[in-house]
Amino acid sequence: MKKKILITGGAGFIGSHVVRRFIKKYPDYLIYNLDKLTYAGNLHNLDDVSDAENYQFIKGDIVDAPFINQLFNEYQFDGVIHLAAESHVDRSITNPLEFIMTNVVGTVNLLNASKTIWKDSFQGKLFYHVSTDEVYGSLGEMGLFTETTSYDPQSPYSASKASSDHFVRAYNNTYGIPVVISNCSNNYGANQFPEKLIPLFINNIKENRSLPVYGDGKYTRDWLWVEDHAAAIDQIYHEGEVGETYNIGGVNEWQNIDLIKLLCQIMDKKLGRDEGTSVQLIEYIKDRPGHDRRYAIDASKIERELGWKPSLKFEEGLEKTIDWYLDNEEWLSNITSGDYKNYYNDQYGKGAHV
Ligand code: NAD
Ligand code: DAU
Repeated sequence: MKKKILITGGAGFIGSHVVRRFIKKYPDYLIYNLDKLTYAGNLHNLDDVSDAENYQFIKGDIVDAPFINQLFNEYQFDGVIHLAAESHVDRSITNPLEFIMTNVVGTVNLLNASKTIWKDSFQGKLFYHVSTDEVYGSLGEMGLFTETTSYDPQSPYSASKASSDHFVRAYNNTYGIPVVISNCSNNYGANQFPEKLIPLFINNIKENRSLPVYGDGKYTRDWLWVEDHAAAIDQIYHEGEVGETYNIGGVNEWQNIDLIKLLCQIMDKKLGRDEGTSVQLIEYIKDRPGHDRRYAIDASKIERELGWKPSLKFEEGLEKTIDWYLDNEEWLSNITSGDYKNYYNDQYGKGAHV
């Protein structure tokens, strides 16, 4: 019998890279991609693998408990890799309840369904919860997040992810469900929705639109190429120890303003513009409320125990990413028409038309 793996949120940014990797690398698995196709879900992210024999897409909402229970009962999944979530901090500030529903209630629905179908034996079963470094809160100038750093979430998004992490651990402790959790830093790469810093700014530079830098621009993030995150998820799923948590990071800290200047420099070259052209688009705007100052991951546990480390240097990954967005105009224009314009105007103010 082939193993049946459910990947939730597989039409999104990271999920699509995980789905592709599993379809290609594990022909003996049956891969099921469950996704609601919210604004962030896009089946075109998987056009190249959608006909694979070991793949099936299922449209559905993880918040809908009867649907989830029926789905698990019908398919009897052996493993769950759970990525479906509302993922954008700014949207969580505008609409926290939606984050509680999907990220907390949705996760608990998946745990309940797993508990039910695995009740006879947990042998060979695994619930993998994909989480974020934001659950640890904000760092000062020094220090790194380790797996034992106390939770201190600061935004509605990170509070909802922290809550879902707690439920996953509670289900392991209370009911014995085999779980594993990873907490990763900021991802970048192909197929990321252009609400997040890097794709938003690539698109704005391309369109000669202003670059909205929050606050003083000195906020720090630790950037990891999305395919390295997918590789880590693969390794943790197969080799990680049940009940454990693994931090994943790029060992690659950048203050936003330095990253943005590098992006402008590369884009000027790619677009044949004079050096120093795009940097003039930078506009400092009102800060994100409750903005976390710095995230940085200590990824020594996953390196030591599983031998994982990032494969790509940031400058190389960034260039690859820019090339992808420039080569995939249609993907970008499909996404930035329609509702995106309303989101953009609401988020960045009247006059900031796309
Ligand atoms: P994304 O927003 O690009 O994709 C989320 C996907 O989930 C979309 O396809 C969406 O349609 C789907 N979805 C949303 N609500 C759903 C629901 N109720 N039912 C079913 N599907 C639903 O997100 P991403 O950036 O790819 O993040 C994926 C996961 O990784 C999230 O859990 C996020 O918290 C975590 N994470 C993201 C990052 C990052 O830098 N992007 C870093 C660390 C962890
Ligand atoms: O750390 C992991 C997290 O990284 C993930 O869990 C989240 O899903 C993901 O969205 C990301 O959160 P951030 O808030 O760090 O990412 P974002 O791309 O929104 O912002 C990165 C930094 O850039 C942050 O300091 C805010 C700043 N920023 C962002 C936007 C969208 C700006 O200055 N201007 C902007 O317009």
